[in-house]
Amino acid sequence: MENIKVLILYYSLGGGTGKLAVEVAKGAEEVEGTEVQIKRIPEIIPEEAFEKDQKLKEIRDRSAEFQNQFAIATVDDLIQAHGVAFGTPVHFGSFASQVKQFIDQLSPAWVKGQLVNKPASVFCVSGSLHGGEELTLNLGMVPVGIPYPIQGEGPEFDGGSPYGAIYINKGKGLSEDDKKVARILGHRLAVMSHLLNCDCEKCNDCHSLVKKPH
Ligand SMILES: Cc1cc2nc3c(=O)[nH]c(=O)nc-3n(C[C@H](O)[C@H](O)[C@H](O)COP(=O)(O)O)c2cc1C
Repeated sequence: MENIKVLILYYSLGGGTGKLAVEVAKGAEEVEGTEVQIKRIPEIIPEEAFEKDQKLKEIRDRSAEFQNQFAIATVDDLIQAHGVAFGTPVHFGSFASQVKQFIDQLSPAWVKGQLVNKPASVFCVSGSLHGGEELTLNLGMVPVGIPYPIQGEGPEFDGGSPYGAIYINKGKGLSEDDKKVARILGHRLAVMSHLLNCDCEKCNDCHSLVKKPH
């Protein structure tokens, strides 16, 4: 069987969400036979807005070299992937409009049922605790989160949430706990992508159930 493709799809203005995307990708890569790609959701803020606001431009430009290593995603990348992790910064208590704009291009794929039963995870970066990380999304995909026991690793453990990987950006970079949760999320997403696309004879029955949405 072909490799299982896991797509890490993210938008980031300042690079923080990109850093978390790298950790999610590392977790997915731990699962043998998984082809992992990180791709960026394109910017929709007009260039003139960056030219007018030098602070905004600085934030973007600081991480440009890091971010440019990842290609811009197309809707087709999402359709081709067996599993997807969506990454977003928190903007005004919600996910970034760039991500929404990308999602809003999915209606032809949605009508054809091309996203149904794909496992999907979310990860996000906020500037403060409870800055809006609770928001999640669902397109008929299968949400893959992180179970509570991982969150309860001890009193010092301070990363993620059961919804997905979360990084509260205090300007000091990702902590080891942040990285750990992101990797666990990527790993779980890759495992679920394998399971939901398994073609082995033994589980052909359950495989056909998964392939039929109704
Ligand atoms: C337009 C805008 C709105 C934001 N709104 C929030 C918010 O509501 N809550 C919050 O905790 N952080 C907010 N932030 C801070 C970002 O979530 C935070 O800086 C994050 O690290 C950005 O991720 P990035 O580096 O991937 O762009 C906002 C930032 C911007 C640019």
